[in-house]
Amino acid sequence: MTPGGPVGLRRVEAAKVVEHRDATLVLGGDGRVHRFPADSGALVAEVMRLLARPRSRDELHAALTERFEDVGTNTGTIDQAIEHLKGVGAIAAPGPSASPHSHAHARGSGRKVVLGLTGAVATAMSPHLAATLVGAGHTVRVAMTKAARRFVTPTALEVITHQPVVRGLWHRTPELPTPHINLAEWAEAVVVCPASATTLSRLARGDCSDLVSALAVATSAPVVLMPSMNAAMYEAPAVQRNLELLRDDGFHVVLPGFGHEVAHAPSQRAPAMGPAPGPREVLAVLEAVLQTASVPRSPQMAEWDARYRELEPEQMPWHTDVLDGDLVDVLSVLPRPQNVLDLGTGLGTVARELARRGLTVTASDLSAVALSRAQTTVAGLPVKLVHDDITRTRLVGPFELVLDRAVLHLLPEAQQADYLRCLSRLVPRGSHLVVKVHAADEQRFDTRKFTAEALEQLLAPAFEPVRITDSSLPGPVTPPAKALLGVFRRAG
Ligand SMILES: Cc1cc2nc3c(=O)[nH]c(=O)nc-3n(C[C@H](O)[C@H](O)[C@H](O)COP(=O)(O)O)c2cc1C
Repeated sequence: MTPGGPVGLRRVEAAKVVEHRDATLVLGGDGRVHRFPADSGALVAEVMRLLARPRSRDELHAALTERFEDVGTNTGTIDQAIEHLKGVGAIAAPGPSASPHSHAHARGSGRKVVLGLTGAVATAMSPHLAATLVGAGHTVRVAMTKAARRFVTPTALEVITHQPVVRGLWHRTPELPTPHINLAEWAEAVVVCPASATTLSRLARGDCSDLVSALAVATSAPVVLMPSMNAAMYEAPAVQRNLELLRDDGFHVVLPGFGHEVAHAPSQRAPAMGPAPGPREVLAVLEAVLQTASVPRSPQMAEWDARYRELEPEQMPWHTDVLDGDLVDVLSVLPRPQNVLDLGTGLGTVARELARRGLTVTASDLSAVALSRAQTTVAGLPVKLVHDDITRTRLVGPFELVLDRAVLHLLPEAQQADYLRCLSRLVPRGSHLVVKVHAADEQRFDTRKFTAEALEQLLAPAFEPVRITDSSLPGPVTPPAKALLGVFRRAG
């Protein structure tokens, strides 16, 4: 909301304004050019300037009346200009992508992305792509092949990404002593855009003689390949064979877009399929892959699968069919969340209880076996079951409430930092994390035990404690396990 009332209008991003002393041209969202003579042109241009951010009609009227004194008495002129600009698709009500909230969301969901550049001519456009990815909140590290350096200077990419650009397998630094492995492990996603025919061939053969192919082969993160080349090259059997191998190997292979072959003289260019898609399409593909790519298998997943295959609910010391009394109390005092994340949902009973209270729940677990058993528990309720590891999460968020009932105390110490990093990304400022862990004087289980101070210290500075109280983890074990209940708020 703006102070002047509900947000009413915003400039459409695609619309452009050209000012000249004789007239103002507006290139509308309708793809046409609209000419406004000098007198109305100045007003139209000012409307477009003011609507660079969302404003209500009242705000707009106030600002324009101040700027054009003569219009002050004639609000009809302003409304006419507004209606005209709406009609040509130059201004509109802000959509979800234009709202300040969604911008914050995009920033909050930023991932660690390696952008691989190869010797395809589209690399010349890569600064725009890097800027688009950074603008969406992602941290971008660029890796280049030798041929890519012929099409773009690393300096431009370093200025845009604020990260060093890695120029080859042997471009070692104290921070990246073995660049291909360090980048492969750092990445939450790798985008090779543009992917040359040569790099595709290296990848299909497992040829790691170059930085980009080596890191793309070594990473466990999803790898998106955007082939970009001359149409005849793209259709060649050798290239198609490689693309098929790459799809089978689990790479995400994107169909090229339409463009013009730059090898032909400008006057002789006809559209043909071959070039990589533009920056916005690449961003959309990346985010779709990040949301849907399955989490890589780990030994812990296999262990949890085995447990959930063998044990009945009454043999699981953490299992409960109802929501713990103190969790019910906490839910009643916290602001009502739009989206809740139930971590380590197991058989889904906590998720079911949250959904029965009218909440929209995402319920994640390391074990695919648990999730398939949970399907029956949550049938017909607004619960999305997701196979995920919270220390390497593929979830996007935001979640206004994360409920961790007995997950954190199972994590090895080495994974606690990743747990915190992932939760910090998923939980927006001011939202809550509710944690239950075994207390320091509970000796019956092979878990990490926490004092209130240790719990607070572990989650700081991303989360500040609202309260930490003595609690229990009701389940089939008597007496119930001694626990701590921590309610934390995401700090700014
Ligand atoms: C002017 C020029 C433009 C090129 N454009 C492309 C291209 O768009 N796509 C492609 O696959 N190869 C293209 N190539 C060929 C690659 O640069 C060449 O195959 C190189 O070995 C790729 O190496 P890399 O995959 O290690 O970057 C181009 C070469 C030149 C000289």
